[in-house]
Amino acid sequence: MYRLLRKFYFTFPPERAHYMAMHQLQLFTRNRLGKSIIQSFTNAPLRETRFLNLKLKNPVGLGAGFDKNAVFLNELEALGFGFVEIGTVTPLPQDGNEQPRLFRLPADKALINRMGFNNDGVDQVARRLEAWRSKKAGSQEKYPLIIGGNIGKNKITPNENAWQDYAACFTKLHPFVDYFVVNVSSPNTPGLRELQDKEALRKILLNLAMINNGKAFAKPILLKIAPDLTREQIDDVIALALEIQLDGLVATNTTIDRSNLNTPATEVEAIGAGGLSGKPVQQKSTAIVQYITEQTNGAIPIIASGGIFTASDAKEKLAAGASLVQIWTGFIYEGPAIVKNICTHL
Ligand SMILES: Cc1cc2nc3c(=O)[nH]c(=O)nc-3n(C[C@H](O)[C@H](O)[C@H](O)COP(=O)(O)O)c2cc1C
Repeated sequence: MYRLLRKFYFTFPPERAHYMAMHQLQLFTRNRLGKSIIQSFTNAPLRETRFLNLKLKNPVGLGAGFDKNAVFLNELEALGFGFVEIGTVTPLPQDGNEQPRLFRLPADKALINRMGFNNDGVDQVARRLEAWRSKKAGSQEKYPLIIGGNIGKNKITPNENAWQDYAACFTKLHPFVDYFVVNVSSPNTPGLRELQDKEALRKILLNLAMINNGKAFAKPILLKIAPDLTREQIDDVIALALEIQLDGLVATNTTIDRSNLNTPATEVEAIGAGGLSGKPVQQKSTAIVQYITEQTNGAIPIIASGGIFTASDAKEKLAAGASLVQIWTGFIYEGPAIVKNICTHL
């Protein structure tokens, strides 16, 4: 069924297809009956999972960048996700890069994107999350949808002031999300990945830890890293994570590497800059999860992201040491029953 739908959606530019599909799903899930019909197709078997202080109905989440503005939580909940990471959110709204900025590479089951943190800004996203929380207040759900807040900096903010952007997003989203991810690994904001340097990271993360400690309920803080880090850089991240008792890592974001693709080189070159996701990043991400797990004896909790399409891909990440998995590109290629399909065979 999804094969046909996918053929249809793939006749539209990727970004347009994304919003079209989500708005169509929204039409169905707007009322209770429609939502329960969708759920009858997507209902995933329960795979209760504990992660940090969180209880999830399953370990399969949606990666950041899919619902940047927290507008599709009801729809994503209907598709069975155990958790959804909204964002990347920045303090001020941003348009992101010029379109087209999202490209399909079907021969590689991959995408290239240079979205550039297009988002409505933290104030509006916080208001939406507040509305979601108040709609859910008093509901007796045993496994409420877990929501992560992925935070970043505005393009116009110089790197030396980046810590203030992360602090602003952290403070405003704090009451409404279950965990945070500090994103310093997107290739599409100039200079952002330099913040993966140990000293820059220390400043950002220690400041967030301080704000967190002042709250009645602290929220877990994780750091999302790029798959292109050298072993030395990963060692630095590990050392810092242990030193400041970071709650965990998200491994990994998209890659800037273009090697070993089936898509003709001329086509790839014509697409230009951006982060590559999907199957080509799978092995790299798994290797990083495995490396961190081995170096730390599993002391750092990990959410794995990169090239997960099937239950066996998810199992590969869990066997490498991850506790949870996130999908993004797999959702585009496999369709709305992906969570059910993964959970059925986990
Ligand atoms: C179009 C697109 C936009 C993305 N936006 C973000 C983002 O805003 N923040 C972020 O941390 N990751 C972002 N990502 C990265 C994904 O969350 C994920 O880490 C990456 O795509 C690897 O997983 P996958 O192979 O399952 O796609 C984006 C990915 C895509 C394809």
